[in-house]
Amino acid sequence: MSGPVCFDAPTLIAIKRDGHRLPDAGIDWLIDGYTTGLVAEEQMAALLMAIYLRGMDEHENARWTRAVMASGERLDFSGVGRPTVGKHSTGGVGDKITLPLVAVVAACGAAVPSASGRGLGHTGGTLDKMESISGFTPALPASRVRDQLSTIGAAIFAAGQLAPADVKLYALRDITGTVESLPLVAASVMSKKLAEGTDALVLDVKVGSGAFMKELDDARELARRMVGLGTAHGVATRALITDMSTPLGCTVGNAVEVAEALEVLGGGGPPDVVALTVRLAQEMLALAGIDGADPAQTLRDGTAMDRFAAMVAAQGGDLGVPLPLGACTETVTADQSGFMAHIDAMAVALAAWRLGAGRARPGEQVQHGAGVRIHRRPGDPVAAGETLFTLYTDTPERMAPALAELDGGYRVDDTPPQSRPLIIETSP
Ligand code: URA
Repeated sequence: MSGPVCFDAPTLIAIKRDGHRLPDAGIDWLIDGYTTGLVAEEQMAALLMAIYLRGMDEHENARWTRAVMASGERLDFSGVGRPTVGKHSTGGVGDKITLPLVAVVAACGAAVPSASGRGLGHTGGTLDKMESISGFTPALPASRVRDQLSTIGAAIFAAGQLAPADVKLYALRDITGTVESLPLVAASVMSKKLAEGTDALVLDVKVGSGAFMKELDDARELARRMVGLGTAHGVATRALITDMSTPLGCTVGNAVEVAEALEVLGGGGPPDVVALTVRLAQEMLALAGIDGADPAQTLRDGTAMDRFAAMVAAQGGDLGVPLPLGACTETVTADQSGFMAHIDAMAVALAAWRLGAGRARPGEQVQHGAGVRIHRRPGDPVAAGETLFTLYTDTPERMAPALAELDGGYRVDDTPPQSRPLIIETSP
């Protein structure tokens, strides 16, 4: 008769350190033990670094994802009266797409429960952005999410209760240099998204200097793994690989990004943000089986804005209160005339982070008014002396380090750059 299998963290850490596959039951034991506190933070930190260095094969990755998902509840939105569809980005700079997207897709007839996170590494977090709206709360019980999906079609809420192991792992990866691990990104995204319980899922896999995956081959592998995990759990899943070598839109931060999302919802806004919103919406609607809806029209006719306003109001937010903007500002001007040739996403992300838009320690408050406004996008003509960037913070001492991050992070040339495709490829 075989009894329960017993594990210990040092042995499992050594297995991965030496490049071997973790046993299935050992993965379940680790994730459960870490969630309940039996496995210490130092032990999980060592294991995460071993995974970062040694990787996980697809079988381990699937088991790890399942264990993280099983650390919490799996929502069930059957019966909300609309097809449910989720979207997740693997993390970008200036990536405010979730804000207009949930409203557009809701206006087209689907329901989007968007379990979201806070900033991770240099990338922004949807919850930090949404909390710059006065009174907005992302802490919704599942029953409220369900009500909102039935009546409005959209909710942006804290992923916390869905995959609690991921909340701890996410915070630990952020402070241990282990964020940029393909299997850990795949498991983090998919544990939350599968727990969301939607019928379908569209993934925006970022590639480039401002993404966790810098190389196209890695982004392809990440997309392939995540689509495989989704399909294996019965969720119709598709991935787009999109460029993240330069920031999305003209703002990077928190409230500045919300303001830009509101411009898009008002029928304006930067063309790249509009294009990606519309394309992701088309993919989501196709997977949700909704034909004939026109996502772009919902931005022009105000129906997406109405959904966004209704969602914000339902979650306690007041769009009538002006969004915060850092009191201390500084501009960067052009030394020469020409064309904006390149803006490096990572440089702008680090500048925004130094200004206070992101965290240096877990649990730290972000500055909602901190961020960077980009006045000249790649390809735009530039005149010597004109403003290229405006920086905002509430803390004057943060300005010099932020300016230093931006220095060398952009280039003005005599000739315009070759335009790069925003949407690089689509997974089957
Ligand atoms: N988004 C997540 O939810 N997790 C990651 O690891 C990266 C992006």
